[in-house]
Amino acid sequence: MENNDNTASAQAAVAAIRSRAKGFDAALALILGSGLDAVTDGVEVIAEIPYADIPGFPSTGVSGHSGSLILAMMNGKAIYVLSGRIHYYEQGDASAMLPMISVLNSLGVKVLVLTNAAGSLLNSAPGSVMLIKDYINFTGQSPLFGLKDNRRFVSMSEAYDKGISDQIKQTAAGAGIQLAQGVYAWMAGPQFETPAEIKAIRMMGADAVGMSTVPETILARYFGIKVAALSVITNYGAGMDDARLSHDQTLSYAPKTAADVRTLINGLLGYLNT
Ligand code: HPA
Repeated sequence: MENNDNTASAQAAVAAIRSRAKGFDAALALILGSGLDAVTDGVEVIAEIPYADIPGFPSTGVSGHSGSLILAMMNGKAIYVLSGRIHYYEQGDASAMLPMISVLNSLGVKVLVLTNAAGSLLNSAPGSVMLIKDYINFTGQSPLFGLKDNRRFVSMSEAYDKGISDQIKQTAAGAGIQLAQGVYAWMAGPQFETPAEIKAIRMMGADAVGMSTVPETILARYFGIKVAALSVITNYGAGMDDARLSHDQTLSYAPKTAADVRTLINGLLGYLNT
């Protein structure tokens, strides 16, 4: 498998994006999780490009993900917003996000902020936001399977950048947002977990559970992009309360927290010196 750094389709994607907004240059990119499109409410949109118009970009088939790249100004800074991601469970392909992350890298992105909807395993209540400080990959998959170069042996000892995470924490403190911190467990999905699985992964040190984010984290670190990640807690893990888990519940809960995520991203952009 090629690493996509310089393939014709990556170059065509970069050209397609650049042609839509000449001179637009952003150091930060944001991937929006399920139901979080409202994070971009009120931002100045320079261009919105459907994934279908970007060579090599996968189409997303999950409701709650609209599938477009937004070039925007937020808090006076340029930002790429990926509204919609492709998940491992859609095709059984952990490298499905490789074209997108590779293109962000080619566009000069230095910092990637990932967001997701997640289930809480104890400390965070639905409606709150958790800063991901580390992850556990319970799928046995890697988006780097098949790559040939030695860059694939990526260190994950600091998957989430401490400096960027500190800036998010400072923003939260200043804005009065209660920001939990914890470990995210990546499960393959698309089925939700069993109560027994939830018990097991709690004992193994996870604080939140979801079906995304980890492949993007690994890919970004492979390209040398710094990563920070936020989980929007939409429910307690299976068996922890009487709620019945469903994608509709995720979609109805996530927007309630979108304003907090927007505040955190605005604050983070304020720290960027570009
Ligand atoms: N499990 C997995 N993924 C999720 C959950 C959950 O409880 N909630 C939102 N995404």
